[in-house]
Amino acid sequence: MTIFLASGNTHKLEEIHGVLPGVKVLTPADAGLIFDFEETGHTFLDNSMGKAIALWRQVGLPTLADDSGLCVDSLGGRPGVLSARYGSEEGSPLLESPKRNSRLLGEMSGMVNRSCRFVCCLSLVLGPDRAFSIQETCEGLLLEVPRGSGGFGYDPVVYLPELGKSVAELTPAEKNLVSHRGKALRRLRAIIADLLESGI
Ligand code: IMP
Repeated sequence: MTIFLASGNTHKLEEIHGVLPGVKVLTPADAGLIFDFEETGHTFLDNSMGKAIALWRQVGLPTLADDSGLCVDSLGGRPGVLSARYGSEEGSPLLESPKRNSRLLGEMSGMVNRSCRFVCCLSLVLGPDRAFSIQETCEGLLLEVPRGSGGFGYDPVVYLPELGKSVAELTPAEKNLVSHRGKALRRLRAIIADLLESGI
């Protein structure tokens, strides 16, 4: 099965390859396509389904989109769907992750409730009216100072109490076992296996 991924994010692509063996995952760039989607939705589901449908219209083959981010309870769920744009001015380039992380920790300075969660919504589109979406989470606590050098994005500032490590201190395989994206991908894998078994 070949699936086009509505993203050029190499970190996401690597995490997806690790969990969907046997599925050929292509990016629009692999097929020489330029794909751009403005994420204006108010929910992870809106953005992920919007991206997957937009790419399906372009390629006419199964597409998969991921919309993800970090929701912090003390900030009313922010940065949430605006996680990529957190800390950057409208129209200006996105902040690099280390700057974005220190800005977030600055905003959270002195806050006692540090509960947060990573959210990942995956949407698989098979046709104009046929689609599946899954949304999963990974619960954590926002650290006071970043820890670890693995992963990407907000990984160094999210601590997983049950593992005693930040997400950036996990190996890729360890992250896949507990992460929002890993959990959603395993559910997706089960859906894909079922679709293949029943002839799609
Ligand atoms: P988007 O899904 O491309 O809109 O990206 C959302 C933002 O959340 C990105 O800027 C990522 O840095 C961040 N993000 C998404 N997934 C993860 C993750 O697994 N770890 C750390 N940061 C993440």
